Amino acid sequence: MKPKIAVTREVFQETLDRLSQHFDVSDNQTDKILTPTDLANLLHDKVGALTALTDPIDESLLLKCPRLKAVCNIAVGYNNIDVPACTKRRVMVTNTPGVLDATTADFAFALLLATARRVTEAEASLRRGEWERWKLKQFLGADVHGATLGIIGMGRIGQVVAHRSRGFDMRVIYHNRNRLDPATESAFNAGYADMETLLGTADFVLLMAPYSPATHHLIGAPQLALMKRSAIIINMARGGIVDDAALIVALKNRAIAGAGLDVYENEPQLNPEFLTLKNVVLTPHIGSSSEATRKKMAMTAAENLIAALTGGTPANLVNAPTSS
Ligand code: GLV
Repeated sequence: MKPKIAVTREVFQETLDRLSQHFDVSDNQTDKILTPTDLANLLHDKVGALTALTDPIDESLLLKCPRLKAVCNIAVGYNNIDVPACTKRRVMVTNTPGVLDATTADFAFALLLATARRVTEAEASLRRGEWERWKLKQFLGADVHGATLGIIGMGRIGQVVAHRSRGFDMRVIYHNRNRLDPATESAFNAGYADMETLLGTADFVLLMAPYSPATHHLIGAPQLALMKRSAIIINMARGGIVDDAALIVALKNRAIAGAGLDVYENEPQLNPEFLTLKNVVLTPHIGSSSEATRKKMAMTAAENLIAALTGGTPANLVNAPTSS
């Protein structure tokens, strides 16, 4: 009999086919987000789970799923998983780093350019039939070329963004938990800055840091107050890194010029006030969503699960329990 695993959200057929070579697979191709109770019911007799960032894997779930040996998230971020609780129960946790870096960096520029040049606001106006004539002062935006880009969270994706920014002749400054070595800094032409300097200097502040208690509300009212009135903030990381209520106040008061947001506190129930603001571009957490990349992410998670449950070491293990 094949070991039993579950896939908690919709995936590609090729992902299911690959998993079925090794496992007896229960899937959720309806893509309904499972309640904690439904998730526990699905996983209670499974040895492995292919999860999404919408699935909270915590102590109470683990208690109900004593056979679980591996939880393989289809995401680079894994703040939905209580990793210490998994480690304690000898459950392996994996993520999908690397395969989404370039696609996510592309989207950072899509959001940055759309916000700077007011693309969605202008398009909505055109669709409403408001375009009467060419005007010199129509939808005046901010230049991206030659501007200073401040990247908070200079990991793999941040570094690809820095690389892309050269094409726009941007100056790059960054802030990171750990300063990069001088060779990497010079490879990306990126100068280290403390948070205050970065916020006060950057024309575009790009958030790329992982979410954790340490980065909760990293950007709140005091930090927004340090930014230039002409500056734009882009959040490609996680909801909760920005205090959304404080950001809405700053956008309303034009204390900063705009925001491009792909992630939100309490998503998908974003603060409805965002919808009333013109100086914000809003996308539904699609940073890594090219067809090729989402397929690679799902397959990477599947390969991690296969390795974890067939005696190997998954390529993207984020904790170090020994399998029992
Ligand atoms: C998406 O947000 C991810 O973490 O992969």
